[in-house]
Amino acid sequence: MALVLTTVNMKGGVGKTTLTVNLATCLAKNYGKRVLILDLDSQISATLSVIAPHDFAKIRKKRQTISYLIDKIIRPYINRKYATPDFIVPSVCDIPGLDLLPGDIELYDEYIISETLHKETANQDDLNFSQVWQDFEGTLIPNIIEPVLDDYDYILTDCAPGYNLLTRSGIVASDFYLLPARPEPLSLVGIQLLERRIAKLKKIHAPDIDLNLLGIVFILSGGLFSSRYYQQVIQRVEQDFDKSQVFENRIPMDVNVAKAVDMFTPVVVSAASSPGSKAFSKLTEEFLQKIAAIKGS
Ligand SMILES: Nc1ncnc2c1ncn2[C@@H]1O[C@H](COP(=O)(O)OP(=O)(O)OP(=O)(O)O)[C@@H](O)[C@H]1O
Ligand SMILES: [Mg+2]
Repeated sequence: MALVLTTVNMKGGVGKTTLTVNLATCLAKNYGKRVLILDLDSQISATLSVIAPHDFAKIRKKRQTISYLIDKIIRPYINRKYATPDFIVPSVCDIPGLDLLPGDIELYDEYIISETLHKETANQDDLNFSQVWQDFEGTLIPNIIEPVLDDYDYILTDCAPGYNLLTRSGIVASDFYLLPARPEPLSLVGIQLLERRIAKLKKIHAPDIDLNLLGIVFILSGGLFSSRYYQQVIQRVEQDFDKSQVFENRIPMDVNVAKAVDMFTPVVVSAASSPGSKAFSKLTEEFLQKIAAIKGS
């Protein structure tokens, strides 16, 4: 059964998508793992990191994106013939084992969700709205991935910045979360706030979920700061967290990483010998060691 991981940080532009797609690609390409990328962000960055816009346009025209699957859960009274396996795009970037469940620029309609859940509450005397909402949040993404759990070694979920319904549901569906961050003071505040929110989420959905932080991945910012400054900030994080929860490998700023997006191919494929690519490969090695250590203990 797949291990499910979510890449999350409330802060935008910290490298969530880049980490998700490069880790997924390395797991498939370098280790022959079966990996599914799940795009839960309406910016569709993960989707467009591995397939070209015109291919996405064709998929969207046929409504073969996650948005159909979300709507199927929100409005179960509408008859639908497709399920999660029908929408998976196999072997993206020509890499066997690297699959994508495409995202969508319109993911869900909050009004329809509220209306449906309100109706559910009204029909059952002993239910209150917050309970119904929590149950919905706790089952939405788990229900979408359940039919394909046995098909993969890893399912990597890319989340939007912020902390929306899909992010929360994606976290609940996960065994671990990854936290990419820049070593900057405000970023550290963000990590602490997120940790508090996830602790609350775990409390609400316990005992159904066993969710842990696999690690913080530092994405080093460009030349403005000295490496000594980075070290000081990183040390502060290592004091707050268990050292094993901070990845030793860090991702340097590398223009090849940014350029890869233009080619709709992760840097570990488009510029395999670049510093960014090498850093992601080493990070993947460390990722697998962490997983093996947890499984073995
Ligand atoms: N190591 C790196 N070197 C150079 N550019 C990078 C690196 N990592 C990410 N980028 C670039 O920084 C930008 C933001 O990265 P990314 O999209 O991964 O962040 P994000 O956290 O997913 O953003 P959002 O919150 O909008 O989803 C992108 O243009 C990406 O190509
Ligand atoms: Mg992103």
